Amino acid sequence: MSDQRPIGVFDSGLGGLTVAREILRLMPGEQIVYLGDTARFPYGGRSKDAICSFAGQDADFLIAQDIKMLIVACNTASAVGIEAVREMGGELPTIGVVLPGAKAAVLRTADRKIGIIGTRATIKSEAYTQAIHDIDNDIKVYGKECPLFAPLVEEGWIDTDATRLIAQNYLYHLVDIGIDCIVLGCTHYPLLMEVIQGTVGTRIQLIDSAFWTAKEAQDILSMLDLLSSNSRDGLSKSIFYLTDMTPNFEESAESFLGEKVPAIRHLPLDRLIEGGFTS
Ligand code: DGL
Repeated sequence: MSDQRPIGVFDSGLGGLTVAREILRLMPGEQIVYLGDTARFPYGGRSKDAICSFAGQDADFLIAQDIKMLIVACNTASAVGIEAVREMGGELPTIGVVLPGAKAAVLRTADRKIGIIGTRATIKSEAYTQAIHDIDNDIKVYGKECPLFAPLVEEGWIDTDATRLIAQNYLYHLVDIGIDCIVLGCTHYPLLMEVIQGTVGTRIQLIDSAFWTAKEAQDILSMLDLLSSNSRDGLSKSIFYLTDMTPNFEESAESFLGEKVPAIRHLPLDRLIEGGFTS
């Protein structure tokens, strides 16, 4: 059996395209319906109530698109609102990025000390810590908010002295504690992989939640017999909705996806907030 319906993916903006990129790398025949809430980006400095409300609206839209799986690609929305989103989806297989990243880190830490980096809301939620402790309560988890990383990536400030200096400021403390892996708990951080690795040294493994989420999606679709029978062309059939066509959305989207993003459409924020897509 196979299922040709698309996978729904949402994020606070374009960063979730790092998750879409990994999905398409592992399963090039899968179609994606992506929603990036660019009008309200970033989510990371918002309250729990605001994040849950935005995530609910994002999910409501995607659930109505006849999808076979829902992926919350945004770490912040996953950390704060995955349970509410899962309830909305009912029987629909729904995953976030936190659990796959946490599981991968648990399997890799030899010294049983894991660092988590993410937005303020992600770190405050302690969702990664909880997910790790649900697997192994004896592992020590150290969270570090890195609120400047996402804006630096948005500005294309990747390989710059300023970025390296900020990385040192954020990460040296984790190195001193003696962690042996760091979970990249934000959609934007895979683009900073080299800077982060250069800062913490090669002894510390970086865990890319985006990759492990795509892997988890593949495992679940395969287990449920829901993989597409197509082995290519998923990207060309995918649709990407944005709530605001920000001035440089095309270049920015390309930098996260790693290639040109076809079929970008505008979903006005008013329409998203109005909701009622699934009723
Ligand atoms: N997608 C968000 C995340 O992974 C990026 C940052 C933000 O919205 O604040 O947390």
